[in-house]
Amino acid sequence: MAIEFSERIRRLPVYPVAGGYALGEDVAMLASNESPDPPLGAVVAAAQRAVAGANRYPDPSNARLKRALSDRYGVPAARIAVGNGSCDILLAAGEALLEPGAELVYAWPSFSIYPHLAAASGARAITVDLDDAQCHDLDAMAAEITAATRLVIVCNPNNPTSTALPFEDIAAFVERVPRHVAVIVDEAYCEFNLLDDPDTTLDLLARHANLVLLRTFSKVYGLCGLRIGFGLCGSEDFPRAVDQVRQPFFCNVAAQAAAVEALSHQDAVADRVERVIVARVEIESGLEALGLEPLPSQANFCWFDLPEGADEAGVVGGLAARGVIVRAGGALGRSGALRVTYGTPVENARFLDALGAVL
Ligand SMILES: Cc1ncc(COP(=O)(O)O)c(C=O)c1O
Repeated sequence: MAIEFSERIRRLPVYPVAGGYALGEDVAMLASNESPDPPLGAVVAAAQRAVAGANRYPDPSNARLKRALSDRYGVPAARIAVGNGSCDILLAAGEALLEPGAELVYAWPSFSIYPHLAAASGARAITVDLDDAQCHDLDAMAAEITAATRLVIVCNPNNPTSTALPFEDIAAFVERVPRHVAVIVDEAYCEFNLLDDPDTTLDLLARHANLVLLRTFSKVYGLCGLRIGFGLCGSEDFPRAVDQVRQPFFCNVAAQAAAVEALSHQDAVADRVERVIVARVEIESGLEALGLEPLPSQANFCWFDLPEGADEAGVVGGLAARGVIVRAGGALGRSGALRVTYGTPVENARFLDALGAVL
């Protein structure tokens, strides 16, 4: 007889992970919005030193890292949540805030993990379609907030569409959300957003105790393999609650040490952003030369519709056959679109050549 699993397991969607990890070296991995740049030598060395002491559990209070984050972002350490990737904080937020009868509001298409929060908790997911420009429709989202709403998530810039809303729109929206409803602004890609300085939203924390700015070391810091993210919060309640629902040692020694070291190299962050902007311009003009219309990207990836009638799976397969792994829009909420992460200049050229050949 088969094992009998919980009803929750039947509700939970399977996260659409990218393929290609087993394909070997000569593959352009443009499917997971990773950084093409390996961690800095000093960051690797810090992680290695920490691993030498791995016979001890990691500091469960993440004290050094919270101090370093506090220094960098000007948010008191007690108002910072740390996680095993920012996904860990999202899932913990679901567990801490949601339950049957509660509601969660987010846009769609948006980040693939958000549906898990409702499915895991038994809460109701209220999804609000993106507008015609494939941006968050914040008026429509505000209209969906009811007495049952516990959490609203805004992804800015949005994954998978790469679009962003300006700071004034985000600020006006947060102002409209009732104070007892948590708002997570997922800013995983904020460093690549040229609409506003990524530090601008920090000012909102002083005014909104219900606000969490969710950030990660996975993208611009290039540490996704170590799994570490953080939330900058308007009050101490959110970090306390997400810590309460997780195991004590959720953040390993190497990740903590690498993150502290990475924070002290803001010049490298600026260099990476610059390379991403160069790649953005190259890829946008390459796509336009192929007659495609990528959305205005504020992230480290692009999103575009394939030509009318093109076979999405065939295009993704054709690119894979040419050593380029990208994401099919169908798995991310919009069939007939592709999401492609910017890689190195060589990978980007390979992608554009391969796409030209496939189309
Ligand atoms: C919008 C968004 N938020 C959060 C994450 C999670 O990142 P991590 O768990 O690696 O910090 C991702 C990852 O791709 C993302 O696209």
